[in-house]
This record gives sequence, C-alpha cells and structure tokens, in this order.
Amino acid sequence: MNHIVAPQDLPECLESAISENVNAMWAMLRAEAEAVVAKEPWLRPFIDTAVLLHRDFPSALGSLLARKLGDSYISADQLADMVRRAVEDAPCIVDEACADLQAICTRDPAADTCLTPFLYYKGFHALEWHRVGHWLWRHDRHDLAHFLQSRVSEVFAVDIHPAVPVGRGVFIDHGTGVVIGETAVVGNDVSILQEVTLGGTGKEHGDRHPKVRDGVLLSAGAKILGNIEIGSRAKVGAGSVVLKDVPPCATVVGVPARIVGWCRDTIPALAMDQTVPEPEYHI
Ligand SMILES: CC(C)(COP(=O)(O)OP(=O)(O)OC[C@H]1O[C@@H](n2cnc3c(N)ncnc32)[C@H](O)[C@@H]1OP(=O)(O)O)[C@@H](O)C(=O)NCCC(=O)NCCS
Repeated sequence: MNHIVAPQDLPECLESAISENVNAMWAMLRAEAEAVVAKEPWLRPFIDTAVLLHRDFPSALGSLLARKLGDSYISADQLADMVRRAVEDAPCIVDEACADLQAICTRDPAADTCLTPFLYYKGFHALEWHRVGHWLWRHDRHDLAHFLQSRVSEVFAVDIHPAVPVGRGVFIDHGTGVVIGETAVVGNDVSILQEVTLGGTGKEHGDRHPKVRDGVLLSAGAKILGNIEIGSRAKVGAGSVVLKDVPPCATVVGVPARIVGWCRDTIPALAMDQTVPEPEYHI
C-alpha cells in the first residue's frame, strides 16, 4: 500500500465510534437475512457470505463491496483490506453508509427490507465505494482513487469523481448513468435518480460544477450544469436542464429549467415527493 499523507483537516466524525444506529442496522440486517434463508434455502450460501458469517456491519459491507469490485489486478481480498483500513482511519464512513442505507429504507417504496438495498442496490454500492475513494483522495492517493472510480463506473455505471464531498443520508436510486464532476458538492439527505449529471458547461475551468445543498431531490435525467447552487430542499424535475442557481425550496422543471413552485412543509428528497406544485412565478 502507498504511504498515507496525514490530512490537515480531518472531519469531526473521525472521532466517533460505531454508533448505536449502526448496531441497530446490523441487528435488523441479520434478522432479515435469517428470514430470507428460512424462506429461500438456495440463497443460504450467498446470504451467509454476505451477512450471517460476519461479526458486524463494517465487515459485511466491506466484504460485499470488495467481492463486487475485485478483478485480476486488485483482488477482492485486497479491496476488503482497503475498506478495512479506510473505516479504521475514518469511522465516519461506516456511519455515513448506515445513514445512506437508512435513507433508502425510508424513501424507497420498493425497498421492503433494508437487506434488499444492502445486497442489491448498485447506487448504494457505488456511493459507499465513492466514500472509500474520497478517503483515498483526501490522503493524496489519487491514482488508487481513480482506479476505484474507473472500476465503479465499469461495474455499477455510476461515475463520481473521487474529489467530490458527499453528505450523509444520500440515496442514489438505480444509479445507472449518474455522473458527478470533480468540483461538485453534494449535501446531506439528497436523493439522486438515474441519469442525473452534475457537470460543467464546458465553458468554465477550475471550480466549474454544481453545489447541491441539503435535502434536494434531483429527478431522473436532470442535467445540472455549471458552478451553480441548488438550494436546500429544492426539487429538479425529470429531464430538466438547470443552468442557473435554484433558490432553496424551489421546484424547477424544463429545458432550460424554470421555477414552477415552492416546497411547503416537507423536505422533497426525504419524502421523495415528485409532484409539481401550483405555479407561482418563473425565473
Ligand atoms: C450548449 C452549451 C455548450 C452552451 O452554449 P452557449 O452557446 O455558450 O450558450 P449560452 O450559455 O450562452 O446560452 C444561450 C442560451 O441557450 C440556453 N441554453 C444553454 N445550454 C442549453 C441546453 N443545454 N439546453 C437548453 N438551453 C440551453 C441558455 O439558457 C441561453 O438561453 P437565454 O439566452 O434565453 O438565456 C452548454 O450549455 C452545454 O450544454 N454544454 C454541455 C455541457 C455538458 O454536456 N456537460 C456534461 C459534462 S459531464
């Protein structure tokens, strides 16, 4: 492994131990896994390897992620070791993964258990690999971070530059075709559907990608272009092209996007509220 450069600005959550949330999630996943093998004996080998033979959530998640990404250049065992080192150095990765999984269980009506997204949702797997890649990036291990980005893109069809900071409780639904550029920022409790791009316009250099604040819902196929801000609790409609800042709470739709309404009491990304409110005014 490469030498790790000590980071100057370690995030606060590095100090945190494995939280009660993580332990509660792990107990739930084990109970759900037991129920699955009781019903579907053919799945026993897979469920044992993925969940029941592990002592805790980080071990199960690291092993699952590693088996999905291992190849002839970096084996699943080496990748599992990489994840283990990452979570030992930055336990917040585990807390964030648990919050992401909880977000899916809460927001996705198709997720009847937490075990289903844990085992099968590639948006979740890609995001958790991104968290490891971002840890590498922050420790100046850019080559390995790019290798992971490339493998994640090949395997899960999700392409997130490893420099991008992503908040907790983020739900990337389906995942296919999601692209997030180098200088983008994604806040907490954001929901991102398939084919979303957080890209540059091609006319700017340096800091050129969108900043997505907390609680934003980005619907399928939305293209958010340029160094613009999508304010907290905003909603972006499916297929929209957003080229200007979106104020907090606004709903925007269209090509180019225009404001068609404002959020009321809910946080759209949490409610997965994809309705378009009554029009009030346009930008
Ligand atoms: C089309 C593009 C190259 C801009 O071209 P441009 O000639 O510089 O255009 P401008 O930015 O001056 O915009 C001109 C008008 O077109 C509109 N416009 C710009 N891009 C648009 C798009 N993609 N779709 C619809 N309208 C667009 C602008 O709103 C503006 O309208 P207005 O005059 O009514 O305000 C750019 O917006 C674009 O789409 N770049 C590609 C970005 C991309 O694919 N990024 C992904 C990276 S991963």
